[in-house]
Amino acid sequence: MLILNHEDPRPLYVQIYAQIRERVLSGKLLAEARLPSARDLAAELGVSRNTVESAYQELLAEGYIHTRTRSGYFVSTIGHEVPPAPRRRTTTPASAPRTRYAFDFHPAGLDPSSFPASVWRKYYLEHLRLDQPLLAQYGDPQGDPALRASLRDYLERSRGVVCGIEQLVVCSGLQHSLDTVAQLLWGKCRALATEDPGYPLPREVFANHGYEVVPTPVGPGGLDLAALDSSGCDIAYITPSHQFPLGEVMPIANRLRLIEWSRHGRYIIEDDYDSELRYQGRPIPSLQGLQPGGNVIYTGTFSKILSPALRLSYMVLPVSLLDTYRRRFRFHLPGASLPEQKTLAAFMDNGHLERHLRRMRTIYRKKRQALAAALGRHFGPRAEIIGQEAGLHVVVRLRGEPRGEAERGRLAEASGIRLLPFSITNADNSPADGHLLLGFGAMSPEELDQGVRLLAEICYGQEPRTS
Ligand SMILES: Cc1ncc(COP(=O)(O)O)c(C=O)c1O
Repeated sequence: MLILNHEDPRPLYVQIYAQIRERVLSGKLLAEARLPSARDLAAELGVSRNTVESAYQELLAEGYIHTRTRSGYFVSTIGHEVPPAPRRRTTTPASAPRTRYAFDFHPAGLDPSSFPASVWRKYYLEHLRLDQPLLAQYGDPQGDPALRASLRDYLERSRGVVCGIEQLVVCSGLQHSLDTVAQLLWGKCRALATEDPGYPLPREVFANHGYEVVPTPVGPGGLDLAALDSSGCDIAYITPSHQFPLGEVMPIANRLRLIEWSRHGRYIIEDDYDSELRYQGRPIPSLQGLQPGGNVIYTGTFSKILSPALRLSYMVLPVSLLDTYRRRFRFHLPGASLPEQKTLAAFMDNGHLERHLRRMRTIYRKKRQALAAALGRHFGPRAEIIGQEAGLHVVVRLRGEPRGEAERGRLAEASGIRLLPFSITNADNSPADGHLLLGFGAMSPEELDQGVRLLAEICYGQEPRTS
């Protein structure tokens, strides 16, 4: 039985949609089970038939159910990726972060139903069946050679990265890459310049390794190069294709100046984290490709285009660091699971990655458009999106917002909205009152509209309405 909660800020059709979707995913509703007619369910729940129809249309569009002419709606076969919910209630510690939000604006949230599970499972099982002996070994510490070969070709094709497979290291996320780089450069370098505002992780990793960390301002052309010159740093961490969080692209003149800066024993860490997701204009080639023999350490990830849960990423080391790498990491073991690496290589070699990417670009372009339209509808001229049409998040500059970041955050949390404060990207964590950091990957266009409506009410002082 479905239960509608009139205190829940989500519209009734979204509640119906979410409850049926959960039952399909958890296997409580079996494939081919027939759903009640819209009229019967509307009568049972005391809502209008249109409300139920809207929920069914959403489920239909996302493939959870299908129709048969004049017979009604039926549950689709989806191969239950999500395990059935445990029967016994488990207690959650009071301090545990909330895991389910009605509206999730996390900037790293992906579309929840687009992981290519059946293809992934096929290759994964194939390797378990055919490559049994591999499970008795650790695998190559630098990453599976077959995957590194696929990566080299892919990076050259899509990002203009030029490297040999001996320069590639498969990692389990940016943190793993940065840990490795910090150990690799220890003794050669001593201070890291990070973008401010910027991704907080590099600051933390390098500080933990004993480096001096110098937050360096970001302008419309990316990292402020004059400030970098006077910082005394010998490593610069940058996101030149889509600056995190502001979304600017570093112009070619600045890229060339930065490469010039990196000569004489200085290093650039180029984090190309979401470069595949551009929705307008031509792709921006990597900085590494501008000078393949230079001191650029290139990092990329599958967290934005496939799944952050897989923990699969990679980096390309400059040839000049390979001897040190081999010496310092002689006894290190691989950081990523071998069956997952094999699966990814097969996935890439059979053309699935590029196909998946094309599909995801379309999905995310639509979501971004839906977010921009919702901002226009509910905030009007009070909100301005800054940065390029790319990635999975936008930064919004607000005009005349009476609430500060902290109050807005408390109200959002209480209204079931997951909203990361922009201030986590400021090196000193100073409040960023006029800015919103909004991820759009995790929500449907309808949820984006509802979430933005509620946010506008929160930001501009009205009590959030419930539907
Ligand atoms: C700037 C930046 N770099 C890298 C990543 C991805 O890191 P990982 O490969 O560890 O998931 C993210 C994820 O949000 C990011 O925002």
